[in-house]
Amino acid sequence: SLLRTPLQNHRGLSSQIKNSSFISRQSFPRDFVFGAASSAYQVEGAVNEDGRGVSIWDKFSQQFGRIQDFSNGDTTVDQYHRFWDDIDLMADLGLDAYRFSISWTRIYPEGTGNINWRGVNHYNSVIDALLDKGIEPYVTIYHWDLPQALQDKYGGWLGPEIVKDYAAFADTCFREFGDRVKHWITLNEPHSLVAEAYGGLGLLAPGKRSLFKTSQTEPYIVGHHLLKAHASAVDIYRKNYKLAQEGQIGITLDSKWYEPYSDTDEDRAAVQRALDFELGWFLHPLVFGDYPKSMREMVGERLPLFMEFANVLKDSFDFVGINHYTTYYAHKSKFSFLEELFENNPDSQVITPFTRNGKALGEKAGAIWQYVVPLGIKSLAQYIHQNYNNIPIFITENGYADTSHSLNEALQDDKRIHYHQEYLFNILEAIEDGCNIKGYFVWSLLDSWEWNFGYSLKFGLYFVDFKDNLRRHPRASAHWYKAFLQKAL
Ligand code: NOJ
Repeated sequence: SLLRTPLQNHRGLSSQIKNSSFISRQSFPRDFVFGAASSAYQVEGAVNEDGRGVSIWDKFSQQFGRIQDFSNGDTTVDQYHRFWDDIDLMADLGLDAYRFSISWTRIYPEGTGNINWRGVNHYNSVIDALLDKGIEPYVTIYHWDLPQALQDKYGGWLGPEIVKDYAAFADTCFREFGDRVKHWITLNEPHSLVAEAYGGLGLLAPGKRSLFKTSQTEPYIVGHHLLKAHASAVDIYRKNYKLAQEGQIGITLDSKWYEPYSDTDEDRAAVQRALDFELGWFLHPLVFGDYPKSMREMVGERLPLFMEFANVLKDSFDFVGINHYTTYYAHKSKFSFLEELFENNPDSQVITPFTRNGKALGEKAGAIWQYVVPLGIKSLAQYIHQNYNNIPIFITENGYADTSHSLNEALQDDKRIHYHQEYLFNILEAIEDGCNIKGYFVWSLLDSWEWNFGYSLKFGLYFVDFKDNLRRHPRASAHWYKAFLQKAL
């Protein structure tokens, strides 16, 4: 059997003791991958070094009022210069893999044109340093830091030109790094972009708001271009690289889980629509070649057609990454009140309250958007198992947000440990039920720059002391993860 410990044993243990602290790496299938994740703009800093160009996040974070604590990613945790030290931390934890992203503007400062070889060299060094420690690079090609030049030229993801420019960038990544990178992730969280960069409150760069508008078109155009860009890159990889490089390619999607607000058919249908407008928006085209039926019905002609591109799109992945953090209620509604709506899409006629009669589905975490509902990840995995042909998935992000500031308070992060243990326990149960889950990446190795929240939200296994030369301090959760991973050896 591929399993290190027979599942019956584990199950017996869990049902008798009901304690997730008994699981370790050993409880999981032998080839299950454990890692941690990050993204370029959130950790690198060094924004003006070695020929890097300006990205939309450089510009967005300078705009007044965009970032909660008025910070930006100019320095963040300086991983650009400290990656050797950080890779030592990863090796010490016993990680199998590190998921990070490549900053487009380090490779092509203007988005297209001449390659900046200093940027290429940087990622060569990172990849080599990881492999030297036996850590597999899982590389995200695009994690939100679009070249500003392309935003200015044709509106970034709104322009159809983006598809070929992105594909050319991806092609360069495969050519330069693919001899050593065996797991590619084309895009990170396209749903977050359509919902928060081009919809809702416009919290992410470039910050377009389309709140309350059931006539909105931009999120659908952007989503369409993201899917086409993804599939074009996969097509290039499969035609020109896959055979020689023997790697795998996928995409990372974000999805919450939803529970019906009331035990009615209407709210159960709302759950389905909430999932269709979040996970299904991207997963449905990838698996079946078109958007979910509910989206076609409710968005009508504002939702673009794929035509013959459907063939390129369908099955354009070897695996799908899932980023999952929390679970809400879904409630059938005409879009009517401001509270708690965040990224809800008015076309879906769903609102997703955090609470019902003042009660949430789980304990509140540090982020205003996060509740701890471990069962949600199991339900989501089962939903993918049942509705999407049991495709192979990696949990490419799962993490707990806190708002601690003082060192002492920050280091004793028992709630984070609890979160990871419980979510992993539910992942294990999903695997027992037949779900095809291949790996798990903690968000994040280090505290880092959390987009519109700036430094006010922390996810790190390591606390970063911004008052003391960005020194990394292991939290209790780092010690926990290390012990969890070592039990296998
Ligand atoms: C989603 C994003 O991929 C990542 O960049 C972000 O920091 C985390 N989730 C936490 O919100």
